[in-house]
This record gives sequence, C-alpha cells and structure tokens, in this order.
Amino acid sequence: MDGNREHWGNKLGFILAAAGSAVGLGNIWKFPYITGENGGAAFIIIYLICILIIGLPVLIAEILLGRNSQLGPISTFRKLARKHKKLWIIAGGIFFFTGLVILSYYNVIAGWSLGYMVESIAGKISSFQTSADASVHFDALVKNPIWIISWQFAFVALGGIVVYFGVRNGIEKISKLLMPVFFVILIFLVIWGVSLEGAEKGLAFLFKPDWSTVSFKTVLMALGHAFFTLSVGMGVLLTYGSYLKKDDNVFFSGIMIALLDTLIAMLAGLAIFTSVFAMGFNPADGPGLVFNVLPAVFSQMPGGNIFSSLFFILLSIAALTSTISILEMLVSTLMDEFNMKRHSSVVLLSATIFILGIPSALSFGELGHISIFGLNWFDTMDYLSANILLPFGGMLVAVFVGWYLMKQDIMGELFHGVRNTDFNRGTSKVWYFLVKFVAPILIFLVFLSAIGVLK
Ligand code: TRP
Repeated sequence: MDGNREHWGNKLGFILAAAGSAVGLGNIWKFPYITGENGGAAFIIIYLICILIIGLPVLIAEILLGRNSQLGPISTFRKLARKHKKLWIIAGGIFFFTGLVILSYYNVIAGWSLGYMVESIAGKISSFQTSADASVHFDALVKNPIWIISWQFAFVALGGIVVYFGVRNGIEKISKLLMPVFFVILIFLVIWGVSLEGAEKGLAFLFKPDWSTVSFKTVLMALGHAFFTLSVGMGVLLTYGSYLKKDDNVFFSGIMIALLDTLIAMLAGLAIFTSVFAMGFNPADGPGLVFNVLPAVFSQMPGGNIFSSLFFILLSIAALTSTISILEMLVSTLMDEFNMKRHSSVVLLSATIFILGIPSALSFGELGHISIFGLNWFDTMDYLSANILLPFGGMLVAVFVGWYLMKQDIMGELFHGVRNTDFNRGTSKVWYFLVKFVAPILIFLVFLSAIGVLK
C-alpha cells in the first residue's frame, strides 16, 4: 500500500464528501423533471427499487475496490485484474474518458446555476408573470456567449481550486462546510413549499402512484437515473474509497450515502412540486423546469428574491460537491498512472475540461445548428455519457467484482470494518448475489435501451 496516499480525516468526512458527490444536479435539476415527465409517484417507486437492488450494491462494490487497491481507477484494474489485464486497463481508460465528457457539460449547467444565483441576489429573477417570460430571460442569457462561457469558466475554476487543496484540506473541508448549509436551505424550502395553499396537489403527484403511466421505458429511465444520481459507474466512488482506511465499515457508509442521496432527491422533489402545483405551473416542463418554471413560481411569492437566491445557492453547492468528485477521480488517475503532481494535474485537467466544454456552452446559441444524429453537441455529450458510458461502466464494476475477483478476497475486504455476525454474513450474501447476477443483467437492459435496441 502506498504509505504516502492521503486519507480522509474521519469517517464523517468521507460520508459527507461521497454524499456530496452523489447529491448533485441529478437530484435537483434532473430528478424533478424526469419525475414530472414520467408520471410522478409510480416512477419514484421504481426508481427507489432500482437504487436498492442495483445502485447500492454497485456503489458498495466500487468503494470496496478503491479501498482495497488504494489507487485511482486505471491503476486499480492494473493491480487487481488477474485475467485480461489489458482489457481492464482499457476499461479504466473509459472511466477517465467518461469523466472528461461528463465534466465538460456538467460544468456548463453548474455555471448557469452560479449565474442564476448572482442574478437572483441582484434581484433580477423575481418579476416574471408566466414561465414564458422566465424562458425569454433564460434564453437571452444562455444565447449570450460571454455570459455562458464566463460562468462556465468561473465554475471550472472553483472546482479546480477545491481539488488543488487536496483530499483532506480541499474536498473534505468544503464538504463538511457546505453539506450542512445545503441541508438547512433545503429543509427551509420544503417547509415553505408544503405550507403553500394548493401544495396538496404536489404531494399527491409525488406520493399517489398512477400505474397506468408506467411503460418499459419508464423502468429503464428510472434504472439509468439510479446510478447517475449515486455517482456510480465511472470510478468516482472507487477513488473516494481509495482514501479510506481499512477499519471503515463500507457497508454502513454505502447505505448512508444512498439514503442521504435518496432523501435529498425526495426533499428537492417536495420543495419543487409543491411550489409548482400551488402556483399552477406544468410539472412536465422538461429540462427547463428549474430555470424556466421556478423563477416564474418565485416571482409570484412574497419574498421571491430570497427564495430564488436560496434555491440557486442550493443548486450551486450541489453541483460543486459533485464536480470536485469527478475532477478528483481524473486527478488521482494522472497522479497514480503517470506520477504527476496534484497541482499540475489540476491545472492541466481544468484547462482541458474548460476547452472541451466550450462547444456544450455554445450549443444554446452560436453552435445550436450543429446536429449529431439530431442532437446538439450538449445533448450528445449528455446522451453519450449518461445513457451509454455510465451504464457500461456500472456493468464493468459489477462484472469485475462478481466474476474477476475471488469471492473470498472481496468478502475479506468487505469484512474489514464490518462485524462478523450472522446478520452481516447474511446481508453480505444478498449483496454478492445482487452484484454478481442482478446488477449486470439489469444494467445490460438499460444499455440495450440506450442504444435503441429495445425502443
Ligand atoms: N451524482 C451526481 C448528480 O446527481 C453527478 C455525478 C457526480 C456523477 N459524480 C458522478 C454521475 C460520477 C456519474 C458518475 O448530479
């Protein structure tokens, strides 16, 4: 084991950092609108089942791999693969590539939220009569290359600064500071939303399932989102796991991370849908829900400026603690594979990500005419990573742990830090079965749907 490797200061630091990775734009920007588009409560129930039987088992597997190797993704496969080593190194390379792709466009939306935060604080987000008015404002901003690229740059720089300071002084510190702030703001917004007149329609939408809207595609959407939201499938949690010491209970941490992520998605859904329904807006407004509909909702509330400021601070925090986790995976890969220093890796990667993201940033204006199979550049990056690369990566992790490692080795790793009781032995058997059989098969189905075979 590399004695110089940094480790988390304590267990809470790891859990908050990993929960910070999981809780991101996926929870607050994507979860509400896909729930809105897929019929509400029935979708949520399927999504919860997917988290439990696929997301959580693979999440635990990823953390275990990292804790065992004490290395970033490519080096982990190099060290642990007994057979087909070259192929597994390529798999690690795919993780690296996926990270670059996701960060390139994720930073663009993160930049919008930062920009919207500042707009809200400046009082410009509180005078829209309809969501169409809010859309006009939104469109004008995202079509302005200076606005969008400046905010994208600001966000890339922000993430770079945190990761520059390292695991303990950067990522762990900022997570311990921001996650509680995040939680307080969220609870405040939920209480406010639920107390609005007309909020019950939002509650019914979230909690009363209407099974008639469910199709096979709904199931696959829920499945895909389950591991996007948990940060599973490209070695990010593997990297965070590599900064764990042997005596941490990965089972417990994994459950905490998945619980926090799910709880926060539900709370964000509560805050957003109670407000959207109470104000009479459309929950199925698509990706613009947060940027087009919420500003109009806020405009009609007393103190709307304060709420919209709080909301976009919330969104920016969520995005920041997620981007730093992806950046850290890339940085640790360069450090472990190429012996690069942290500081030069951060600078090199941030510059690369910024440049790679420019076409995504311009997809809403100047480069909007570029079309790849009918999608603009931004949507292509999102589709490629979320629907193809991530499911593939999640399947690789499950196959690696289930079929390429010795069962006794992986169980031995699991039971470092887990008490050897009957209950734990039973649970670990269920976990192993889910990782070995259930997860790869179900993920394979998502993958087929993504490439259009099942559509
Ligand atoms: N989970 C984050 C979200 O919900 C996004 C994210 C961060 C991610 N790290 C990841 C997704 C790693 C996949 C893999 O927004």
